[in-house]
Amino acid sequence: MAVVGGRSTSPAKRQAARANGRTRKKPHALFSSRSEEWATPPALFAKLDAEFGFSLDPCATPENAKCSSFYTRDDDGLSKPWHGSVFMNPPYGDTIGLWMAKAWEEARRGALVVCLVPARVDTAWWHDYAARGEVRFLRGRLRFGGAVQSAPFPSAIVIFRPAAVLG
Ligand SMILES: C[S@@+](CC[C@H](N)C(=O)[O-])C[C@H]1O[C@@H](n2cnc3c(N)ncnc32)[C@H](O)[C@@H]1O
Repeated sequence: MAVVGGRSTSPAKRQAARANGRTRKKPHALFSSRSEEWATPPALFAKLDAEFGFSLDPCATPENAKCSSFYTRDDDGLSKPWHGSVFMNPPYGDTIGLWMAKAWEEARRGALVVCLVPARVDTAWWHDYAARGEVRFLRGRLRFGGAVQSAPFPSAIVIFRPAAVLG
């Protein structure tokens, strides 16, 4: 059975799967591909923070913000200027390409932007933006904040250095 994002591809296939007893349990909300709350594992953030000294978290809630300076959904971090050393773990849904474009553009304007993203190397946003950065593929699968299991996808760190530094 072809399954995309945990869903059967058509009502007929879903019905057939049910008839054959091949139903999938709904993934935990945290593991839904549409979840926005993939909180960065503290040990990974600490290691990156020691290297880059972050000053801004542009996609956060007050509860999961990694820096004292942060933007929430109400602020809309996509519409705000970024500055300094930025740690970006964006929402992993349909807007991830917009976040990668924003990260790239803010680095052109002088910010250092370090992105924690799923290693979806076949996507347009990966080819258009992530591939232009310094990419560090993470070994194994991350266990995001509050999760009892590891993520069902690999992750990567993508670093966009400030244009002035790149020259
Ligand atoms: C993957 S979580 C990362 C949370 C945290 N920054 C971390 O690294 O653990 C993405 C966060 O972006 C927030 N978010 C969604 N849309 C946003 C927007 N337009 N502007 C700022 N934050 C947003 C979500 O509420 C969520 O907390």
